[in-house]
Amino acid sequence: MRNFLSAEDVPNINELVQKAIGFKADPTGSKLSGTGKRMGLLFLNPSMRTRLSTQIAASNLGMESIVFNVGQDGWSLEFEDEAIMNGTTVEHVKEAAPILGKYFDVLGVRTFPGLKDKAEDYSEFFIKQFVKYSGIPVVSLESASLHPLQSLTDIITITENFKEKRKPKVVLTWAPHVKALPQCVANSFAQWINAWGEADFVIAHPEGYELDKKFTGNAAIAYDQSYALKEADFVYVKNWSSYSDYGNVLSTDANWMLTNEKLFATNNAKVMHCLPVRRNVELSGEVLDGANSIVTQQAGNRVWAAQAVLSEILNG
Ligand code: CP
Repeated sequence: MRNFLSAEDVPNINELVQKAIGFKADPTGSKLSGTGKRMGLLFLNPSMRTRLSTQIAASNLGMESIVFNVGQDGWSLEFEDEAIMNGTTVEHVKEAAPILGKYFDVLGVRTFPGLKDKAEDYSEFFIKQFVKYSGIPVVSLESASLHPLQSLTDIITITENFKEKRKPKVVLTWAPHVKALPQCVANSFAQWINAWGEADFVIAHPEGYELDKKFTGNAAIAYDQSYALKEADFVYVKNWSSYSDYGNVLSTDANWMLTNEKLFATNNAKVMHCLPVRRNVELSGEVLDGANSIVTQQAGNRVWAAQAVLSEILNG
């Protein structure tokens, strides 16, 4: 594997999941493939889980990792090709990225969408500039339209929690939120579940929240959450802003918040969320505090997902 930007970079998802589960059982493995290597973690947006889990993963492999918060610690970056830099940006990615390529062996980049220009966001313009100019492997720490480390983690977590000889029913359900959020986690989850091919997959959301078909593929779409939740084995709760009415909030309907009462219709479903979560807005506190919630196990698995990906890149 050269770069890790989406499910398309992974030839065999189950092999990567098993590698991650192997690291969970034996974190430092039989040999440290990252000894003498250095990873740069570039954040253009905030993070807790991605930043810390990737640093721990790198350390488990014997790698050094250095975090650089671009907006806070560094010069503001310019990305436009022919920009006349007489405004607020100080350094062009054409200089910054190759310099990072000299300092590091692997580069992780987090950059959120602006949620204003759909074409620009979905072209993955910003992370692709780092791929183009750094000259080293790039790992997405969440990009404008996808969050692959999260989705790999989600499949690891489903695999750990489902031992039956049938496909699990997995429901991704939209939830209300106070802010307009990216579609990244939902897009990415759909892309990975479809590429994995080992779940019956339903996406539930209010009308107007349809995701890009290129990620949802043949997933069943339901506008009725109660209907979608019937017999679910896993319920993945997540808010996203509208894709069609790009970046806008079309509903804040509190009836879409997941509660214990709604879980009665499921097959005692495990409840997932990528975190951070707005308690009693997206998910009721009783669900988060209850036995069905696996959100902390899920977040813990971020380490093993990152470690499996870094190990593949180092060995590849
Ligand atoms: N789930 C996730 O990516 O969390 P952070 O934003 O804290 O990294």
